[in-house]
Amino acid sequence: MRTQVAIIGGGPSGLLLSQLLHKAGIDSVVLERKTRDYVLGRIRAGVLEQGLVGLMREAGVADRMEAEGFIHDGTLIAANNEAFRIDFAKHTGTHVTVYGQTEVTRDLYDAREATGGSILFNAEDVTIHDVDTDHPYVTYRTDGQDGRVDCDFIAGCDGFHGVSRQTIPDTVRKEYEKVYPFGWLGILSETPPVDDELIYANSPRGFALCSMRNASLSRYYVQCPLTDTPEQWSDDAFWEELKRRIPEEAADKLVTGPSIEKSIAPLRSFVTEPMRWGRLFLCGDAAHIVPPTGAKGLNTAASDIHYLFEGLKDYYLDKSSAGIDHYSERALLRIWKAERFSWWMTTLLHRFPDQTEFDLKMQQAELAFLRDSDTAQKAMAENYVGLPY
Ligand code: FAD
Ligand code: DHB
Repeated sequence: MRTQVAIIGGGPSGLLLSQLLHKAGIDSVVLERKTRDYVLGRIRAGVLEQGLVGLMREAGVADRMEAEGFIHDGTLIAANNEAFRIDFAKHTGTHVTVYGQTEVTRDLYDAREATGGSILFNAEDVTIHDVDTDHPYVTYRTDGQDGRVDCDFIAGCDGFHGVSRQTIPDTVRKEYEKVYPFGWLGILSETPPVDDELIYANSPRGFALCSMRNASLSRYYVQCPLTDTPEQWSDDAFWEELKRRIPEEAADKLVTGPSIEKSIAPLRSFVTEPMRWGRLFLCGDAAHIVPPTGAKGLNTAASDIHYLFEGLKDYYLDKSSAGIDHYSERALLRIWKAERFSWWMTTLLHRFPDQTEFDLKMQQAELAFLRDSDTAQKAMAENYVGLPY
C-alpha cells in the first residue's frame, strides 16, 4: 500500500492529523495497535484550549463539540478552606471548552469512517524503516498477515509507550524527565458537578480536582501515593477524602454516587528533542508528557498537529519544505512553555513527601500572590487558556 503520510497511532493526535490532511486533499493511513472501542474506553482529558477547538472546526468535526461542550470563563483555586477565581474572560478575552477527549476522539473516528479514511486497527509489530532516506516505509501485521505502507513521511502519534520515539537513534535523541512522587486517583460518576467551574484545591492532605464532563457527569481526582491501587479505594473512601480536601462550602453540596470508572495515573514531565528525525515527525505524547494539573496534555498534542499540518500543507500544496524543516523547533518552543506552566501548577498545588516547612511557606506565599495580584492571575489565565500557536 502507498500513501503520502503514514500515521502511527489512532489516538487524538493521529486522528486529528489524518482528518486535517484529508480536508487538504493529502492522503494518509493510520495504524492503530488497539481497537476503536479500546481507544474510546480511555477516560482522559476534559479541557480544550481554543487552538484545539479551532483545529476541530478546520477538520470539520466541531458540530457536536459546539452543541454539547461547555464554555468555561474561569476556574476556582482553593486553599485554606476558601476559593478564589481566575477570570479567563477578563484577563484574556477568551475561554476554555469542557468536552471530553473520548468525545473528541469519537467525533474524529466518525468523520474518518464517513469519508472512507484508511485506519488499520489491531496493527501489531509496527516498525518504521528507512526514515533517514527519501523512501521511508512502515511494516506491520494484522490478523496474522504482514503488511507494508510506503509513504513520503511518517507521523509518530503513538503516545508515550509507542515505537516512533525509539526509532530515533540514542546518539540523536535527548530526553528530559521529571517524575513526581505521587499519582492522581480519578473517578467518573453520574452525578451533577459540585460547581459550574473546575476547582483546583491545595490542601494539607494533598491536591484535589473537581471537574466534569456534562451536567450529570462529574470527574474528580485526588492526589495519592504511587503505591496505591484503584481497588484499594472504595467509592466511600474516595468521596470522604475528596470532601476533606476541598472547601467546606463545596464539600457540603457535593453529590456523591457510585463511580463508573476509577483509575490511577502517575505524574511525569518529559520532553524528547528533536521532534523530527529525517522523514519522521513525533507528535503529542510520543514526544512529551506533562503532569495533568494544567490540562495541557491533549492541548500540546493539538499544537504539534497544527505545526506539522501547516508544514505538510506547505510541502504538498506550495512545494516549500520550510514548515517541516522548522517543525521541531516551533513545536518545542511552545511545548517547553506548557511544560513550565504544568510544572508550576503541579508544584503550587500538591503535597510533596520531602517538602520542608520553608517549601510550604513558599507555596502559601505563591497562592496568596495569585489570589491578590491581578498580574499573577493574568499570567495564569493566559497560560491556562493556551498560548498562541
Ligand atoms: P495517545 O492518546 O496515547 O494515543 C496514542 C495511540 O497510539 C493510542 O491509541 C495507542 O493505542 C497507539 N499506539 C501506541 N503504540 C502503538 C504502536 N506501536 N503501533 C500503533 N499504535 C500504537 N490533557 C489535556 O489537555 N487536558 C486534560 O484535562 C488532561 N487530563 C488527563 C487526565 C488523565 C488521567 C490522563 C492520563 C491524561 C490527561 N491528559 C490531559 C493528557 C492527554 O490525555 C494526552 O496528552 C493525549 O491522550 C495525547 O494524545 P496522543 O494522541 O498524542 O496519544
Ligand atoms: C481534567 C483533567 C485535568 O488534568 C485537568 O487539569 C482538568 C480537567 C478532567 O479530566 O476533566
